[in-house]
Amino acid sequence: MPDQVKRLSVIFILVISALVIVRYLLIPPTFGKLGHYRARALEDAKALPVKYAGREACLECHDDVGDALGKSYHRGLSCEVCHGPGAKHVKSEGDVELVVPGKRKDCLRCHQFLSSRPTGFPQVDPLQHNPVKPCITCHDPHEPGPPRAPADCSGCHTTIAKIKGVSRHVSLKCETCHTTKAQHKLDPRKFRASIPAEREFCGKCHAKKAKGSSDIPQVDIRLHGGRYLCWECHNPHNPQGE
Ligand code: HEC
Ligand code: HEC
Ligand code: HEC
Ligand code: HEC
Ligand code: HEC
Ligand code: HEC
Ligand code: HEC
Ligand code: HEC
Repeated sequence: MPDQVKRLSVIFILVISALVIVRYLLIPPTFGKLGHYRARALEDAKALPVKYAGREACLECHDDVGDALGKSYHRGLSCEVCHGPGAKHVKSEGDVELVVPGKRKDCLRCHQFLSSRPTGFPQVDPLQHNPVKPCITCHDPHEPGPPRAPADCSGCHTTIAKIKGVSRHVSLKCETCHTTKAQHKLDPRKFRASIPAEREFCGKCHAKKAKGSSDIPQVDIRLHGGRYLCWECHNPHNPQGE
């Protein structure tokens, strides 16, 4: 036998045995039974523990939340997108506790402004939109729109409220000087609050002979400060300051 045939047949035998090894030892036995994949993968996947229960399962015990959510802007969301996988919770009838989200980042996951999100999807800039406070102080997560109005003005005008809180005007309510419709708290740009317009407004308490407590310092408002508006010199929210 010529040498080259011997060498070729060695290579030939090596290749054949490699193929046999790959076919019978490395390729899983059920490969190709149902197509170009391992048929047993279906059984294996089925055997994995189920982590999610689905919204229907939650409604059995939490139908009140389900009703609210079903009518709200969040009707398209599953419960578990916010509360995490709930199969164990369902099985244990509530004993295994679920995540109860509440931080700003939990909502910003979907609502933070990103230019790639679809136009019209409600998005907010977290630095501009009522910073610091958790979203759920104003928005009900299960009925997110329209938002729950904050109980008082400080919910949005935090800085002004803090400044006034340590000023000589601490005892005056915001509404003493501003009239607001209730809707101002829901749609502040459409329903504007009033702002005092004249010196006489401050004169109600500070003019000589004005009614009220004798502790209130009084000035002759015809002369004091010339023709300027009082708040061109005094910050109405911190009147004794410079
Ligand atoms: C078999 C009844 C049952 C089912 C089904 C069920 N829950 Fe509950 N769930 C409970 C009980 C009981 C509690 C505790 C009640 C309480 O503390 O007021 C609870 C509490 C909760 C809480 C509050 C947890 C906390 O720590 O305050 C959340 C959130 C919750 N469930 C979400 C879900 C979600 C999401 C599903 C569906 C995946 C679901 N539940 C399905 C019975 C159920
Ligand atoms: C957009 C996210 C979101 C979705 C979707 C959502 N939840 Fe909640 N859920 C929350 C947040 C946030 C709280 C905490 C509210 C709070 O502390 O005031 C909460 C609280 C709860 C509680 C505690 C008690 C209560 O009512 O405050 C239960 C129970 C609950 N959710 C069940 C559900 C069920 C059932 C569904 C689906 C039908 C669901 N949630 C869908 C965010 C969500
Ligand atoms: C998984 C994504 C997701 C999460 C998390 C989520 N939302 Fe939403 N949110 C939506 C979708 C979807 C809509 C409905 C958008 C539409 O109707 O076009 C919506 C609508 C809203 C609206 C109504 C806006 C309007 O047009 O008036 C508010 C407010 C809102 N969400 C607040 C929240 C708050 C607060 C949280 C956190 C507790 C939260 N969302 C968490 C997806 C999400
Ligand atoms: C102090 C109360 C308050 C807090 C805190 C707050 N919001 Fe709002 N949110 C409002 C009010 C009031 C409106 C309606 C007026 C407006 O657009 O400013 C609104 C409107 C929205 C809208 C609708 C915007 C649109 O274009 O339709 C979304 C979405 C929203 N908020 C999400 C959030 C998220 C997410 C957080 C937390 C990161 C949050 N909000 C925190 C009061 C609040
Ligand atoms: C939900 C948030 C929110 C709440 C709550 C709120 N405001 Fe406002 N307010 C705003 C926003 C936002 C503006 C700015 C509107 C603009 O400049 O376009 C504003 C503007 C104002 C202005 C200036 C109006 C102008 O025309 O320049 C006054 C005064 C005011 N608010 C008073 C109040 C008082 C008093 C309360 C409590 C009764 C209150 N606000 C509660 C959000 C709020
Ligand atoms: C003593 C009367 C008085 C009280 C009390 C008062 N304000 Fe004012 N406020 C004014 C006057 C006057 C202006 C106009 C100031 C200017 O134009 O420089 C004003 C302006 C404002 C403005 C718009 C300009 C700005 O500084 O952003 C807001 C918002 C506001 N006030 C909110 C409030 C809130 C919230 C409270 C309660 C925490 C409050 N005010 C309490 C008199 C008052
Ligand atoms: C409802 C009555 C009332 C109104 C209206 C009012 N104030 Fe006052 N003001 C007070 C009271 C009360 C004090 C605190 C007196 C004290 O500390 O004993 C005060 C204190 C002051 C002080 C501090 C005086 C000092 O001794 O340092 C100034 C300045 C002042 N107000 C300016 C104004 C201006 C400007 C306006 C109009 C925007 C105004 N006030 C509207 C009741 C009022
Ligand atoms: C041109 C600037 C200017 C204007 C405008 C002005 N003030 Fe003053 N105000 C001052 C200065 C400066 C002081 C402190 C010195 C003083 O006591 O005269 C003062 C002091 C006061 C005091 C304290 C008086 C005391 O006895 O402690 C009150 C109250 C007051 N102003 C109210 C008002 C009212 C109300 C108006 C509008 C009708 C007004 N001011 C307009 C500059 C001004």
